[in-house]
Amino acid sequence: MAAGTLDWTNATLDSLTTAPYRAQANELAGRMASEVAAGKLPFLSMGYMDSLLDELEQIRPSLAKFDHLLLLGIGGSALGARALQQAFAPGQDLPGHQGPWLWISDNVGASTLEAYMAKLPPEKTLVVTVSKSGGTIETVGQYFIIKKWLMEKLGDAWKDNILLVTDANNGFLREEVNRYQTMSLTVPDNLGGRYSVLSAVGLLPAAFLGMNVASMVAGAREVAKGLSAPGLDGCKLAAHPAFELAVWGRALMDANFDEMIFFSYVPAMASFGDWFAQLWAESLGKQGRGSQPIPAVGVTDQHSVNQMFLDGKRNKSCLLLSCPSLPAGPRFPHDIPDKFDYVRGKEYGELLQAEGLGTQMALCKCGVPLVEVRLSEDSPHAVGAMIVLFGAATILTGWLMGINPLDQPAVELGKRLAKARLGAEGLEEEKADLAAFLNVTRIEQEF
Ligand code: PA5
Repeated sequence: MAAGTLDWTNATLDSLTTAPYRAQANELAGRMASEVAAGKLPFLSMGYMDSLLDELEQIRPSLAKFDHLLLLGIGGSALGARALQQAFAPGQDLPGHQGPWLWISDNVGASTLEAYMAKLPPEKTLVVTVSKSGGTIETVGQYFIIKKWLMEKLGDAWKDNILLVTDANNGFLREEVNRYQTMSLTVPDNLGGRYSVLSAVGLLPAAFLGMNVASMVAGAREVAKGLSAPGLDGCKLAAHPAFELAVWGRALMDANFDEMIFFSYVPAMASFGDWFAQLWAESLGKQGRGSQPIPAVGVTDQHSVNQMFLDGKRNKSCLLLSCPSLPAGPRFPHDIPDKFDYVRGKEYGELLQAEGLGTQMALCKCGVPLVEVRLSEDSPHAVGAMIVLFGAATILTGWLMGINPLDQPAVELGKRLAKARLGAEGLEEEKADLAAFLNVTRIEQEF
């Protein structure tokens, strides 16, 4: 069974200028083949996967000793893990949960960090610090504090409660692994954060929570093989759904559709909206171009931002995630007031599906080009396939824009200025800029 279907019926492809982008299929196929061969797209080639699956198997008994996994990471080092947790191990947010517990600390929140240290049992907590670069201050800063906490609570045994996920050779966290011989897993070369959920970055927490990692990887491989197998040519690329999504995404930008809604009508997969938003925004927001991703949650946001989608500025397109085979849940009782008779005796899940359809049709009627991403089932297999599909579509969209979808140079400025503010060595230009920025007459108003 296919993992899912892209429904193009309402994508308005006929009214978009797609020909110049379709014409690039041969060129992009050649580029993809050479970048895969050169190891630049490991999220597609997955050359690291077999050994990672072995390592996860070996590490499983160690993971089982812990009740809590505290993940320290940010951006691509956290968002995928959270999306998987919400999708396949939502118990922590439901009554009666007995563990395991995954805590994802992806912000600089003093009271949250203090709560972890006050309430988590250190001997039953595995602290997993995830940073490809090993130098992200928001992550490494937490690591410093949590490491001290473990040392104080566990003495010499603190090292047994640490696992570092980072580059194989470089960065501060790798130095920590070498210095203390902690457990570690590797983030492969050239695998940037937002493309890394199907590496140790996302699969370690998934394994801790007992997810079917092998099935997720199998789904991912099925979509990836069409792009990474030898012999990729223009025809094969043009037939791949990732290419069609990229052509659509790129043509929409020309037509001034500069916002892309990711509307999830699979409630447990709502967090994939945040994951997609980072993937699309950090990859494509370059040189004054791109389209702004907007994560939205069906049905919740029908009572929130949907008014703007339907009748605000006409610049929105939509990827609508659905899954018709979701469990339907209990039936509505028969003894309900007549004004609600249309749900009498129906299954609860029918309401979700009807509202998803209603919103989809309303968006289309309001001129929002829309592709329905219909999963065959809400399974790790389907999600693995979806992750690769969106990753590949994002890369191809970036190539069609003529930008590099793998970097994120603009976000560096804020980081450098924050370091300058904290007195980091060097950064003289940033320090001068900062002083000038602060040394103006403030225009302030109390409220
Ligand atoms: O997608 C990306 O590359 C970024 O969002 C990173 O994941 C984020 O900046 C964290 O980087 P690192 O894993 O090096 O700590």
